[in-house]
Amino acid sequence: FRKLDDIGDVKGKVVLLRVDLNLPMQDGAVTDLTRAQAVAPTILELADAGAKVLLLAHFGRPKGERNSTMSLSMIQGALADVLGREVMFVPEVTGDVVKQAIGILPDGGIALLENTRFWKGEEANDPEFAKAIAENGDIYVNDAFSAAHRAHASTEGLAHLLPAYAGRSMQKELEALQKALGTPEKPVAAVVGGAKVSSKLDVLEHLVTRVDHLIIGGGMANTFLAARGVDVGKSLCEHELTSTVEKIMDAADAAGCTVHLPYDVVVSKEFAENPASLRICNVHEVAADEMILDIGPQAVEALADVLKTCRTLVWNGPLGAFETRPFDEATVSLAKTAAALSKEGSLISVAGGGDTVSALNHAGVAKDFTYISTAGGAFLEWMEGKELPGVVALYI
Ligand code: 3PG
Repeated sequence: FRKLDDIGDVKGKVVLLRVDLNLPMQDGAVTDLTRAQAVAPTILELADAGAKVLLLAHFGRPKGERNSTMSLSMIQGALADVLGREVMFVPEVTGDVVKQAIGILPDGGIALLENTRFWKGEEANDPEFAKAIAENGDIYVNDAFSAAHRAHASTEGLAHLLPAYAGRSMQKELEALQKALGTPEKPVAAVVGGAKVSSKLDVLEHLVTRVDHLIIGGGMANTFLAARGVDVGKSLCEHELTSTVEKIMDAADAAGCTVHLPYDVVVSKEFAENPASLRICNVHEVAADEMILDIGPQAVEALADVLKTCRTLVWNGPLGAFETRPFDEATVSLAKTAAALSKEGSLISVAGGGDTVSALNHAGVAKDFTYISTAGGAFLEWMEGKELPGVVALYI
């Protein structure tokens, strides 16, 4: 794919730069600036080279209609703070209003256009809508890996209409992911956690053919245990999927991938902080009125030993109900092991997905992972082995 290094002289040119500003907000205030910080280097690089930078982004899911609660004007201030520059807000993405904005924007100026999803043509990837956006630009840069699983006008369509380049954040994501599952140093381990097997079936099916060790955690481990004949009591479990899970385990066997399930677990009769009924037991000793809420300490130790033999790790999903103490312990402990191994240089660790990043931040180790993706859905689709339309378009 073409990078900013290949872009040539951008002085005075209008660069349409797709970023992901779908930032978490509460009561009108941005609660996490990670995605804005991730795209700042690209914005500043282009602005410093004298381009007029027009930012394209979506926010929420307004379904093709203007909606004042999802206007990107709400993000303008936070973005200006992150960049340390003025950011002009333009309440349109096409037409004369955008043209006028370009007219008054100095070289090196930055403008944030309105939420692309206010127009139906965006999600429909309507060529006419893409053409109308492209008319106001000279160059297209995509720096929104986390939206690259959407084949929308601003993430895919534009790449066919203007010279197209990957921004620095997109480049970093693609390079890190290539290192993790494309051409990884072996052995490779994957940690897949989270509540439900059903949401990660495609991920599991793909991973068993790509990794040497598949570590299953979270509620989904219960479905795996049930498939192996373990009585998981009151635990969250998708009993209807046990035969699917058996097939995944067979495929893993055939591919030489070891599936790791816990052999001790943390159980409780109620799901609450530090419950009185909490105990640690072997998976075969879960009582009918108990539920599994985390992986046990012996299992975590065994998994740490597995990671010590590996060179590459891909992590998606927590191992336990990590938002409620003490069911965060397995996730925190294994994350610390992975971070320490990465810091000393023996492990390349890549993690992604909203919950995963919160869990690693909670463990205080995110900074020591080799790479943390800004993506949620796009990271999962990548883990499924799917081609992401926004990325594919940059290769054309
Ligand atoms: C995300 O938040 O993961 C991306 O911005 C994509 O958002 P979407 O799931 O609404 O397409």
